Amino acid sequence: MPQHDVLVIGAGLAGQRAALAAAEGGASVGIISKVHPVRSHSNAAQGGINAALNPEDTWESHAFDTIKGSDYLGDQDAIEIMCREAPEELLELEHWGVTFHRNEEGRLGTRAFGGASAARTYYVADITGQAILHVLYEQLMRHEEVYRYEEWFTTALVQDEEGRIAGAVTRNMRDGSMELFSARAVILATGGNGQIYDPTTNALICTGDGIAMAYRIGAPLMDMEMIQYHPTTLAGLGLLITEGARGEGAHLYNAQGERFMEKYAPNKMELASRDVVSRAEQTEINEGRGFPDGTVALDITVVPRKRIHEALREIVNVGRDFAGVDITQEPIHIKPGNHYTMGGVRTDVNGQTPIPGLYAAGECACVSVHGGNRLGANSLLDTLVFGRRSGAHAAQAIKGLPVPEPARASVGAEQEVIDAIVSRDRTGRRVSEIKAELGQVMDRYVAVFRDEQGLNTALETVRRLQEEAQTVAVDDKGSVFNQDVLGALELQFMLDNAEAIVIGAIERKESRGAQYRTDFPDRNDDEWLKHINISANGEGPEVSYSEVTLTQWEPEERKY
Ligand code: FUM
Repeated sequence: MPQHDVLVIGAGLAGQRAALAAAEGGASVGIISKVHPVRSHSNAAQGGINAALNPEDTWESHAFDTIKGSDYLGDQDAIEIMCREAPEELLELEHWGVTFHRNEEGRLGTRAFGGASAARTYYVADITGQAILHVLYEQLMRHEEVYRYEEWFTTALVQDEEGRIAGAVTRNMRDGSMELFSARAVILATGGNGQIYDPTTNALICTGDGIAMAYRIGAPLMDMEMIQYHPTTLAGLGLLITEGARGEGAHLYNAQGERFMEKYAPNKMELASRDVVSRAEQTEINEGRGFPDGTVALDITVVPRKRIHEALREIVNVGRDFAGVDITQEPIHIKPGNHYTMGGVRTDVNGQTPIPGLYAAGECACVSVHGGNRLGANSLLDTLVFGRRSGAHAAQAIKGLPVPEPARASVGAEQEVIDAIVSRDRTGRRVSEIKAELGQVMDRYVAVFRDEQGLNTALETVRRLQEEAQTVAVDDKGSVFNQDVLGALELQFMLDNAEAIVIGAIERKESRGAQYRTDFPDRNDDEWLKHINISANGEGPEVSYSEVTLTQWEPEERKY
């Protein structure tokens, strides 16, 4: 049985940063990933990472922007930590070798991003996530005490008899063998759940695995109703057109040629926070001022051509290859699309969940630094700050703990689930059919605008799909890289996530951040300035509440 002090599940930015910090803290570390680490979804983060590093900027200003962006649902103690620690984290990355953009004076240069009162987004063209991911992977390879399990798929977390985390059950994707890992602490860094929506900016691997695994052993999920729709995605495909484009000066127009953000956010215009811009676009589209393909236009041609090729070269490729548009010459049609989950496994500021020994960091976690709406370029920061804090805390917390011996029966139980999927004759629907219906229903009813009737329809559908998922069969009966089987397991994870999202959205009877209820259009601090937590209690999901931590910023009306 492989044994590690700290087992990190997921090898994107949060996972790699956690593994590095745990190793530096003296722990032996195993890092498990269902894809090669540099193919993690952090790769897709384009625009940059926020830090108040410039002498004219302050961490307090960054914190206030983040709190306002969160529509006051973010926990201010956690936000303070993130914003205070941002400059040091950024400089560490730079020293490790991330080639951040430099301005004409040779200093680290910034671009503007949405909801921010200062240009504090540091970037590598529009491939910032990819650049950081590769540098972290290099750092990881320097550490002999970090063992990498690349292309291993974790199916379940294992606890000891007292409920402390003891390890995880994992499938080696190369040969289908099952393995039981023993660990004194487990850090979940499995990313978000965007694949439950169709379309989404998220990679195929973003199926909410860690969120569901933690939920299944009793960890509460928090703020799950807060799903971010990014204002600029390609219709149909969901591909991301970075907010960096608007940061560089691009404009949004409706089909009548109006720069409509004047009506919705006269001060910040296209650089209002994402929930505000997405709602504005969707309103234009719903009220008939969009284009026939259900979009509005993003005009990047106002940015000098040389600058586009220097700072936005990836979206030049995306525009050309996926929309047939040369963004240096003509506007590109875009619409709001699923992008990010603000909620996740509830943690404290050191990544600890209420399950002893279980941590979570990055998009699968809810610290909660994003509350109702995340500011662009705060997600890379979140992964790094709270990844590091989780790894460092776990390395200290496990000292003196005995080596756990997780029960072998847990492997048997997981093997039985897989055997049942493989041996089942085709009677029910395909994984792809259920996934497609789930994606459509979520995108229709649990999107930018929501109401009770639509949310109830979504919940009924998700529950029917959960039933149907019990009888899916797969065509591939083999053991080598059987993605068919993994798809069936991921489908169950996605359905758990979807159920929690919809329950949270039904529960929250107000509009705040990404949750806009047309039947409750106002924010209601008296009743709803609180987190919604959803836990599995054996009989089904159970809703409870927890307080929002306020430090120095009282909730006020939010205007951009
Ligand atoms: O638009 C973007 O580049 C996305 C950045 C983010 O989600 O932080």
